[in-house]
Amino acid sequence: MASHSPIIDTQSSSNDDGGSLTGIPLTSLFTAAARALESSLPEDKRRFNDPYASKLAQPIMKKMTEASMNTEEDKDNLAKAMLMYKYVQDRTVYFDGAIQEYLVQHPECKQIVVLGSGMDTRAYRMGLSADMILFEIDYAHVHNYKTVILKDDEPSCQRIVVKADMTKDDLRVLLTAANNDNLGTRPGFMFDSTQATLWLAEGLMNYIPEAAVGPFVSCMNGLSAKESGFIFDGWKSRDRFSALVSANYVSYMASVAGDTLDAMNNLGWQKYHTIDYAATGAEFNTMLKQ
Ligand SMILES: C[S@@+](CC[C@H](N)C(=O)[O-])C[C@H]1O[C@@H](n2cnc3c(N)ncnc32)[C@H](O)[C@@H]1O
Repeated sequence: MASHSPIIDTQSSSNDDGGSLTGIPLTSLFTAAARALESSLPEDKRRFNDPYASKLAQPIMKKMTEASMNTEEDKDNLAKAMLMYKYVQDRTVYFDGAIQEYLVQHPECKQIVVLGSGMDTRAYRMGLSADMILFEIDYAHVHNYKTVILKDDEPSCQRIVVKADMTKDDLRVLLTAANNDNLGTRPGFMFDSTQATLWLAEGLMNYIPEAAVGPFVSCMNGLSAKESGFIFDGWKSRDRFSALVSANYVSYMASVAGDTLDAMNNLGWQKYHTIDYAATGAEFNTMLKQ
């Protein structure tokens, strides 16, 4: 797979206003917009606060305020968008809770890998300890945009940015390159496959082609010590996904949640916790390596 070198850094000099984000990478701005909406609620009403979401989601928020509501189609699209925003907000609540629970039960875990990190800001907002190392893996242009927006913000933990297409470079190559490159890492902050890892795949697995899911999770498994955790969500069927998104996005759905679950089960991972998100036909899962 490793056809080219992934880029690892913690800085970016490029200046991107979000215009380069189209297709699947653009979905990262929609999820940030969902978190921005929840975060804008009064303190006693919101279920989480992502203080970075609104600036990260700005290009989408601008379009939302400019959108016309003249036709039935506009109204239908808005209703679908609101359901998707609710889905993402509930998913954030699930992931935040599952991460906290896993870290309480596994205090020895000092590495988190965020797969398809998009506008995820957990390195900044969750109070992760300074001895935690958190890898964010996403396409270069997604990271470039995010780095510019967050240039004045400080993560609470050690944050390593990995710019790559995960269907081209496997995870072992990416994390080894992050270790070798050593940019931004302090001594002692390296990915270590002999130690437990918490893997996050929020809004990602449905975009991994069905045939690539097995090799992808197999590589993850090979890098995971016992008691490693994996938190992911996914649509269970293409039909339910198609009913909720515009035609452009339907073609992006490449696998279903069951593909990931089966592949993980075959590798000996057990489902530890699950939520059936019936409103969209998706599910949230936490798995543990036995
Ligand atoms: C729906 S967004 C979710 C982002 C983030 N996890 C969140 O919940 O806000 C999906 C993300 O996965 C990334 N992604 C999808 N396929 C990828 C691949 N093959 N390599 C790297 N990143 C990928 C996209 O660029 C995008 O940022």
